[in-house]
Amino acid sequence: MEHLIDIAQLSTDEVDALIRKAEDIIANPAKYADICRGKTLATLFFEPSTRTRLSFEAAMYGLGGNVLGFSEAQSSSASKGESVSDTAKTVSCYADIIAMRHPKEGAPLVASMAASVPVINAGDGGHNHPTQTLTDLLTIHKEKGRLDNLTIGFCGDLKFGRTVHSLITAISRYKNIRVVLISPDELKLPSYIKKDVLQKNNIEYAQTTDLEAVMPELDILYMTRVQRERFFNEEDYLRLKDSYILTKEKLSGAKSDMAILHPLPRVNEISVAIDEDPRACYFRQVLYGKFIRMALILKLLGLEA
Ligand code: NCD
Repeated sequence: MEHLIDIAQLSTDEVDALIRKAEDIIANPAKYADICRGKTLATLFFEPSTRTRLSFEAAMYGLGGNVLGFSEAQSSSASKGESVSDTAKTVSCYADIIAMRHPKEGAPLVASMAASVPVINAGDGGHNHPTQTLTDLLTIHKEKGRLDNLTIGFCGDLKFGRTVHSLITAISRYKNIRVVLISPDELKLPSYIKKDVLQKNNIEYAQTTDLEAVMPELDILYMTRVQRERFFNEEDYLRLKDSYILTKEKLSGAKSDMAILHPLPRVNEISVAIDEDPRACYFRQVLYGKFIRMALILKLLGLEA
């Protein structure tokens, strides 16, 4: 049985196949509309979510399947002290596949070891978020037509931003990738990712605090919010939260075809005036998230159209 806990579990060939499948679903939705009839997805969300949970649910409905689950830990037996393993064993009795989000790093991995159905990590603490990465890769492929030969700037909270960690892991496997890390000193990319991913794959990378200075080099700008819920004290959050605010003026040095991505939710790191700019991809990115999750559900359930 296959789970998806870390994006590195998928080879680049498997990622590319998922992207092709998602593109086929976009082009021919009717072909897939009934394929999951009688199958059930459980969404177990112990942390807040709008896009990830609803896109999983929309994906399963789009495939003709059923959905059940909970959207806060308080409404599940976790609040009575039930372990993640026992919850996973229980839900395996009701569902064919599980998507789990949890504030503790590693919780979806623990669930996958106890479950008798495939488990998908829908975000674990400040660690990983592989399905957001599949969404990001499909978005890059749709917007730029390629996943290689790109300079990608990651801006904001690179320390706690799990989407950043997973996307750097995935994109580092493609040819001729350059990474520019833009963050305040306190929110730099963890050194284990620099060592185990960037240096190990011989990826050329730079670190800076100055977004405008590197803007002209970027093919993609991946903005992120400062992850308030992972801070130990509110003062640090308040001091760092507005480190980067992307405005029209700051974009003036950018390439005319630079793609601006953001996993969302946006707090105020991108001015709403930019939403009208053709380079703003983040709401298209939301839509792609549904289609790539449809492709992933089919792969993990072993279903072909
Ligand atoms: C991200 C997450 O949950 O890590 N959101 C998402 O899934 N699209 C990013 C974030 O919360 O900042």
